[in-house]
Amino acid sequence: MSELAARLLKRIARQGPITVAEYLAEVLTAPRQGYYMTGDPFGARGDFVTAPEISQMFGELIGLWCAETWQRLGGPATLTLVELGPGRGTLLADLLRAAKMLPGFREALKLHLVEVSPALRALQARRLEGVGATWHDSLAEVPQGRPLLVIANEFFDALPIRQFERTPEGWRERLVGLAPGRDALAFGLSPPAPYAEALLPEGLRGAGPGAVAEVAPAGLSLAAEIGRRLVEDGGAALIVDYGYAEPDGRPTLQALRRHRREDVLAAPGEADLTAHVDFSALARAAREAGAAAWGPLPQGAFLEALGIATRAERLAVGASPEQAAEIRAALHRLTAAEEMGRLFKALVLAAPGLGPLAGCAA
Ligand SMILES: C[S@@+](CC[C@H](N)C(=O)[O-])C[C@H]1O[C@@H](n2cnc3c(N)ncnc32)[C@H](O)[C@@H]1O
Repeated sequence: MSELAARLLKRIARQGPITVAEYLAEVLTAPRQGYYMTGDPFGARGDFVTAPEISQMFGELIGLWCAETWQRLGGPATLTLVELGPGRGTLLADLLRAAKMLPGFREALKLHLVEVSPALRALQARRLEGVGATWHDSLAEVPQGRPLLVIANEFFDALPIRQFERTPEGWRERLVGLAPGRDALAFGLSPPAPYAEALLPEGLRGAGPGAVAEVAPAGLSLAAEIGRRLVEDGGAALIVDYGYAEPDGRPTLQALRRHRREDVLAAPGEADLTAHVDFSALARAAREAGAAAWGPLPQGAFLEALGIATRAERLAVGASPEQAAEIRAALHRLTAAEEMGRLFKALVLAAPGLGPLAGCAA
């Protein structure tokens, strides 16, 4: 049993069952043993592959989106660019290369990276050597800078969620407790939780028995914080992730290890745990803070509107037949509905009066 699993068993034996959000926070980001804190989970030999790791086209097109937004803002001399959860730093490296195409844009960028993992910070620092970035633990730590651009790819799915289940006695919260032998973790339910109703997405409040509702308190407060900062500083945010426009009452929490699904409680700290993003809830939180929101737009349509097909054609010029086939395969994977084109979505937030921005009409 891992040290983290043993610590969780001890904690629960001492203080009783914990919420799914408390479990996720511990398992993903506990200092030293949390999933993200120790190593590099990306790539073919890791647990998952993200869009920027599939093709340079993804980061380049997001770079183009940022450049067009900068132009829309009037080409200011400085622009605070924040990336939330930069992973291996690949997206930002590709974005910065594309940024050089527009005179003045690259020079305007003040780069801020929000990253909780010391191991990934070290990887990012190597990848982005010489670009002049500053690292932070949270968006709240990023100094105020006008205007602001925030980008986040597969960040919100990594933030802890709470789960509620509708039972014949009403909503109960799913908790992580101990299995009968007290030597393994097991899911259980809280007593009826009348407080739950106020937290749940409106569309699910009247759902019948068996429905599961997921709420992401950290994600919602971050969306509200981004909305507030966009109102104060001007600018825009681009959130790309897998998720749904409206919740349908089914649980989405999942564990992925070496590209395979596994039990969420099986190996705390050793598998990637994520939940699909409730885009309508994020958009609502940002709008309530005063920002404008577009989407979610399917990733395929968003990337096509930004010109991914043309970019792929250009890259294929002078490429070997093998490289050309790789480019076609990456284009398909990023945009096809049966691949990442529909499940993954883009949500655009902006200061009032700025949008719609590039890709928003997709
Ligand atoms: C799934 S990875 C996505 C990485 C990258 N954006 C990409 O597309 O390849 C999630 C990233 O968010 C970071 N992260 C997860 N939870 C975090 C938190 N609470 N605060 C800051 N960073 C976090 C992880 O360490 C990792 O860099």
